[in-house]
Amino acid sequence: MYGGQKRMHENVGNNPLFGCKNRSRTMPRCRKRNVFVISPFLLVLFVLCFELYYWTMQPSTQAKWPTDPCPHKVVNDTITALKYSKTFIISSYQDNREQNLTRVVAIVDYKNVQDLYCWFCCSRSRRIAIIRAVIDIHTERFGLPFGSADIVCMEPQYCSPKYVSVHSSSKGTIEELPQFEIKNRVASTSFSAEFTVCLSVTFGNHSNVLQFIQSMEMYKILGAQKVVIYVTDYSQPMEPFLKLYAAEGTAEIIPWPIVSYINFSSFWSSSQDWLYGKSAVLNDCIYRNMYRSRYVVLNDIDEIILPIKHLNWKTMMKSLEDQNPETGIYFFESHFFPHSVFASVDGFSSALWKTLPGVNILQHIYRVPNRMWLNNPRKMIVNPRKVVQTSIHSVLKGYGRTMEVPKDVAILYACKAHNRRETPDGYLIRDPAIWRFNASLISSVNDMLSKKFFYKHFKSPWNALVKNIASIFK
Ligand SMILES: *[C@@H]1O[C@H](CO)[C@@H](O)[C@H](O)[C@H]1NC(C)=O
Ligand SMILES: *[C@@H]1O[C@H](CO)[C@@H](O)[C@H](O)[C@H]1NC(C)=O
Ligand SMILES: *[C@@H]1O[C@H](CO)[C@@H](O)[C@H](O)[C@H]1NC(C)=O
Ligand SMILES: *[C@@H]1O[C@H](CO)[C@@H](O)[C@H](O)[C@H]1NC(C)=O
Ligand SMILES: *[C@@H]1O[C@H](CO)[C@@H](O)[C@H](O)[C@H]1NC(C)=O
Repeated sequence: MYGGQKRMHENVGNNPLFGCKNRSRTMPRCRKRNVFVISPFLLVLFVLCFELYYWTMQPSTQAKWPTDPCPHKVVNDTITALKYSKTFIISSYQDNREQNLTRVVAIVDYKNVQDLYCWFCCSRSRRIAIIRAVIDIHTERFGLPFGSADIVCMEPQYCSPKYVSVHSSSKGTIEELPQFEIKNRVASTSFSAEFTVCLSVTFGNHSNVLQFIQSMEMYKILGAQKVVIYVTDYSQPMEPFLKLYAAEGTAEIIPWPIVSYINFSSFWSSSQDWLYGKSAVLNDCIYRNMYRSRYVVLNDIDEIILPIKHLNWKTMMKSLEDQNPETGIYFFESHFFPHSVFASVDGFSSALWKTLPGVNILQHIYRVPNRMWLNNPRKMIVNPRKVVQTSIHSVLKGYGRTMEVPKDVAILYACKAHNRRETPDGYLIRDPAIWRFNASLISSVNDMLSKKFFYKHFKSPWNALVKNIASIFK
């Protein structure tokens, strides 16, 4: 697939071994004379020669030569801007599903794509191998000048690289380049999570706290062990809950400071979707969880993939998989429940909830009818090992079959602000599918709020306290 375009460069100039060999070439001259003419004078010279050699070698080892190029300058940041090219590196992953590749998830300025090279740090031989990259720009670009791309390089043989750098040239010195750990080198088959939810970016002053907690609790009720949240910014009332979810191990919070790298307000886009690097986030999340989670659920925080026939995702997915064994990608049709239309649900609300800003999803059971002639947006549950490249509503490259899950099995419950003016409220359909979960949702949201109460009142050692108190209450 990528083989034809590869060239391998051995960057000898940056090889510290080569440097050492070069230097020791002064030595055989001394030794040679010793072998042929053994005289006291030459013996002294020989000793002197050695002394001189060590004297010059010792201090310069540290001063001049990179002690070890592997690794040199490893970066952990979620976004790294490359020098000399408008390229932003998110993370790098080994992908040996077809060939031994390193796949770097990146954002590129696709009007100015330059050649890029992977500088592999070979852990076996401690040398640098430089391979020309194939830049695979994702086909969905949403009218923006920046887009997601995979920077793909064949891994050199006999190298077992653990670190890679990306550079616009095959020349230079490794010390100047940031190195990225190549993750997923061990393809585990025992998963630490059955379901992981990948939320696309939360940004700005998101103060819809109640809906955030309700969605998080619904994911847990439905079977998620982990929710990955890429956070650009959050509001003050959100902070304690993000921390509580991180402390209990549900939320994996990844800082996403994209606005410090790309100024989105200077672009016009036909779609809000790509804004804030949503598709790069989803691709990173897929690879991050490839060998950690059996399934990955891709949706936004105001959306829930809601089973209609089953009580949770596990039994739903088991039944879907039994009927469609070749399928790894399942689509769920979006059904829109506007924030502006309320049902009276006095029994479903508690006094505690009124203290929080935001929407109570149990009040929103009226949905906009989906129009047959329109392609309604979908979200997905995927087997991440069957995905090569994903977008927000579809998988761009993958393996195996895909399936549109019928709406009597599950829907994507999307509870959002009303933006479809054309549907008068009278045409809305009453659909209380979310109410099936009322009892478990109410009790788990209340649980969370009581943890927040303790967090507020015993802030300093809250981490340990919350755990202890929570276990007493259980
Ligand atoms: C990078 O992460 C590792 C562990 O994940 C940590 O030990 C190291 O200190 C981090 N380095 C930086 C520069 O943050
Ligand atoms: C990948 O590399 C490993 C050793 O590093 C080798 O055993 C394996 O055959 C390679 N796989 C492919 C598909 O080339
Ligand atoms: C965030 O939103 C709240 C209420 O919606 C408002 O009071 C606050 O000023 C906003 N903060 C910022 C930084 O916009
Ligand atoms: C972003 O671009 C807009 C329009 O070009 C400009 O008004 C604004 O000051 C820029 N913001 C930053 C943070 O650079
Ligand atoms: C609320 O949940 C309970 C327990 O699961 C269920 O019996 C009841 O029917 C639900 N209420 C509604 C209105 O769906």
